[in-house]
Amino acid sequence: MFHLGDVESPVPNNHISAYMANKAGWARGAGAVDCDDSDWRELDVPHDWAVEGAFSPEHHVDAGFLPRGVGWYRRHFRLEPRDRGRRLSLQFDGVATHCTVYVNGHLLHRNFCGYTPFTVDFTDVARFGDELNVVAVRVDATYMEGWWYEGAGIYRHVYLVKTSPVHIAQYGVFVRPEKGAGGEWATHVETTVVNESDQAATVTCSSQILGRAGDVIASDATPITVPRRSSQVVQQTIPVIRPDLWGLDSRALYMLQSELRAGDTPVDGTSTTFGYRTIRFDAERGFFLNDEHVLLKGTCNHQDHAGVGVAVPDSIHEFRVRRLLEMGSNAYRAAHNPPAAELLDACDRLGMLVMDENRNFGSSPEHFRQLRAMVLRDRNHPSVICWSICNEEAIQGTPVAARIGRAMAAEVRRLDPSRPVMAAVSGGILNDDSLADATAAGLDVVGINYQLHVHDPYHAKHPATPLLAAETHCLLGTRGQYATEPDRHAFAAYDVEHAPWGLTARSTWRSVLDHPYLAGLFIWAGFDYRGEPSPHAWPCVNSFFGLLDTCGFAKDAFYLHKAYFTSAPFVHLLPHWNGSEGGDQPVRVVAYTNCPAAELFLNGRSLGRKTVDPIEMAEWLVPFEPGVLRVVAYRDGRVAADVERVTTGPPNALGLEVHPAAVALPIPADGRFTLPVTVFAMDEASRRVPTASDLVTFSVDGPATILGVGNGDPTSHEPDKADHRSLFHGLAQVLLQMRATAGRMTLSATAPGLRPATLQLTSTTVPLSPTMPRARPRHIVTGWRMSPITPGRPDVHQSASTTDVNTWDRVEPAAGGQPAWAHASGYAVYRAAVAVPKSMRSTGGVVRFHGVVGEVELFIDGDRALPGAKDASSAVAFSFPARAEQITLSLLVHSATARGGITGPVELTPA
Ligand code: GAL
Repeated sequence: MFHLGDVESPVPNNHISAYMANKAGWARGAGAVDCDDSDWRELDVPHDWAVEGAFSPEHHVDAGFLPRGVGWYRRHFRLEPRDRGRRLSLQFDGVATHCTVYVNGHLLHRNFCGYTPFTVDFTDVARFGDELNVVAVRVDATYMEGWWYEGAGIYRHVYLVKTSPVHIAQYGVFVRPEKGAGGEWATHVETTVVNESDQAATVTCSSQILGRAGDVIASDATPITVPRRSSQVVQQTIPVIRPDLWGLDSRALYMLQSELRAGDTPVDGTSTTFGYRTIRFDAERGFFLNDEHVLLKGTCNHQDHAGVGVAVPDSIHEFRVRRLLEMGSNAYRAAHNPPAAELLDACDRLGMLVMDENRNFGSSPEHFRQLRAMVLRDRNHPSVICWSICNEEAIQGTPVAARIGRAMAAEVRRLDPSRPVMAAVSGGILNDDSLADATAAGLDVVGINYQLHVHDPYHAKHPATPLLAAETHCLLGTRGQYATEPDRHAFAAYDVEHAPWGLTARSTWRSVLDHPYLAGLFIWAGFDYRGEPSPHAWPCVNSFFGLLDTCGFAKDAFYLHKAYFTSAPFVHLLPHWNGSEGGDQPVRVVAYTNCPAAELFLNGRSLGRKTVDPIEMAEWLVPFEPGVLRVVAYRDGRVAADVERVTTGPPNALGLEVHPAAVALPIPADGRFTLPVTVFAMDEASRRVPTASDLVTFSVDGPATILGVGNGDPTSHEPDKADHRSLFHGLAQVLLQMRATAGRMTLSATAPGLRPATLQLTSTTVPLSPTMPRARPRHIVTGWRMSPITPGRPDVHQSASTTDVNTWDRVEPAAGGQPAWAHASGYAVYRAAVAVPKSMRSTGGVVRFHGVVGEVELFIDGDRALPGAKDASSAVAFSFPARAEQITLSLLVHSATARGGITGPVELTPA
């Protein structure tokens, strides 16, 4: 349940409220158990509320002019009595940005990095059976950790984790394959076993390596005794002969099955995917994967996508990786923060190398906590080839930075000795005793952002330090745009426009090829992202740097890089042939191809065959004439590829297709899987119209929902959470999310004056991942106080002074009620102030005491409630009248025996 905006929690205004302000379990406001969330919005996480907001120049340019602010989430859930005795925790994969987590009114965690996973153990405060649990999360997204769009909210997955008290630590398995001689690999396995019980535990830690067919190919078992409330690390080395290697072409993945057993009883277990591969950075020759040289052809990427902001579905992460692979890219820089775990899974499966980057630079305990979270979570991924500790820190040229870098690098190595540690620098690069001084800063690799001219002097000064171009390019391009029009904030997609600190793709690629000692380059950026619309600001809401737009539609620069990065023959031709934006001037026509020759034809006439310069490509100046512009690429004297641009008529009909790079079949009906669907317009002859800008409305019939829409236009202020979107240069995207029930569905698209389009899809039943059912929230009254016990009937209206924190006791019957007193007999008054739930304000309701012992009378705001005095031994209920705000409950209890008082939860229910 979600609440946009903060929920006031009263500031202590007297002695007693200050005394109580920080007591365990007594969180107030929306952190309290009894917060009335009945009118909060129900939704599923991952969720990003910023992308639901409206664009306004009042919001921050780097937030894409979208509102962030503060929001709250609450979730009620039931734990079964059989869960007693288990360790219980909530794992948050990512919350933007600062957040505070309460469970059952206990403040359990504060988190200070929007990119760092964290786990909250709530075992000690858990409730079981009918006493529900409530987790409350306050998210403060006013804080900016970056200068790009960071979203707002619980934008990655959340898991409830149940283990036995003796268990494998979270991220407690580290598999580190090491290549030996003669095809033998030593699989070093490190398992951290935690014993949170009060007795020493003896268990056997077994590690089985499963082959690709799921068969056990090697294993080891080690007995271990872990003292009470402590942890121990089990080290095992499991030999494996000639495993299939993980590489870019064949991504052999193995599974380590870890299990703890006490005698024959399994106690805990987990599985870890890993791969056998070697990596090496060489200062003279660059990067080697499995002893073969690989030039890193990388892109830098932020994590948002059209339609969803940063709450990116797992399948869209995969789609994005596939798009980059299609371009021939083999490396991904997670800029400037650890990515979603599912993105790394996709990189493992698909063969993409990853520079995993830490967000915050520092050597304080909090900085180390964030750094460790990245390394521990990600160190089993074969795709991860280096750890970047920071990007462009302002103090990078100083000895302070060198000292911090050294401390961070040492900490990374302690957790993972198998990967190089690097930093991305942009200043002080030739300074001694700076971050770029690899020896001083303890770095294995240095990445330089831009400034290609500094590579040689740096290499001369640090000949033993492997170097890579950690950020390059900074192209400015608008998809489908062929003339720069500053007034319209549009950039020509010809590889001509770039930020002053960047260079064209052509100059950069030439420089990289001329410097064989470079391990490779990481282009800024793979995809456009919200925010940072440099050099513009409002009305532009996203960046222009991507080779692909925010939907993953290719700009022409995508194909220029495909020409650089791939070898299977292909050719791309720009611009479109629907008329020139440059008036009567001849049109600059360019072929991007990896073939050595290309010939252009206009309406069947050859305009000349050219030798293709592998960097500059081939181009012609062609007076515009409607018709067919066709390019043919030749390799070894034969036609190897061709493509044409055709002058189209005006839009006549819509078309829909699942983006070919999406994994489409079978479509899992899992409640999460999301398909990117492309919508386009066609002319009468069914040719796609590259200039169409029609406003399209979508609807879906069947088990799917429209998760969001986008079109890649950096100046569009149309909402992403909507059922409509204008085409931008001919294209828009709908994200279609499957429900958890299988079936046929029809996506329809309509636009005024155009023939509508439909797309039929069928989703298939799959085993669902377990989810915690939502429990119906209950209005539990908390914050009870109890008067001193008196032998005679007291004044029920009495109260303690606000300076007296001692004479009235505090009782929390909902957290495991106990008989309130052990006197022979006596009277007591219980008091609680409770906000009337919104749903009961006009109707009144019932106060239900689920457990009371004794003779009881309830007074509401001083008036005796019906049905008057009652002798109870378990449950009892009183009605309360309609009241707008708050009521004060005073329960007078008289017990003639040694047991008496409120012994169970007190709940408000509708009448
Ligand atoms: C770099 C920076 C990136 C991005 C880029 C835009 O200096 O590291 O985060 O801002 O510039 O050109």
